[in-house]
Amino acid sequence: MIRSALFLCSGLLLFLAAACTSNSNSAAEETAAAPAVAAELPGKALYTQNCAVCHGPDGKLGLNGAHDLTKSNLNATGRVYMVTQGLGKMPSFKNQLSPEQIQQVVDYSLTLK
Ligand code: HEC
Repeated sequence: MIRSALFLCSGLLLFLAAACTSNSNSAAEETAAAPAVAAELPGKALYTQNCAVCHGPDGKLGLNGAHDLTKSNLNATGRVYMVTQGLGKMPSFKNQLSPEQIQQVVDYSLTLK
């Protein structure tokens, strides 16, 4: 009887200690990761969904004659035009993406180096 109570007690303590450490860890990770994720995300997700097929996750794939985005000299205005209107084998995204999303994905594409 006493033994099982002791067992239960130390088991509970272990559990509490584990719950406690994992809680404080994930809280710390969240606060540390939040700003980076916010700065990175909207355009990156759009890029992965819409552009990576041809340009690759890093912009260098060049499938079907897609240009290497890390070597592109086009500025933001040129890229917005390109993504909105398309050119040659590059599809137009004006029916898939809002102007705001196009701006975000272009901003992300400019970070590929
Ligand atoms: C179906 C394949 C395909 C997809 C999907 C695609 N592209 Fe392209 N992209 C191309 C091709 C092909 C070219 C070259 C077009 C040309 O010059 O004739 C190109 C060219 C470009 C250029 C111009 C690079 C330069 O300096 O010449 C930019 C910028 C660009 N794409 C951005 C994007 C972005 C951003 C997305 C996603 C919203 C995207 N592309 C999706 C095929 C694709």
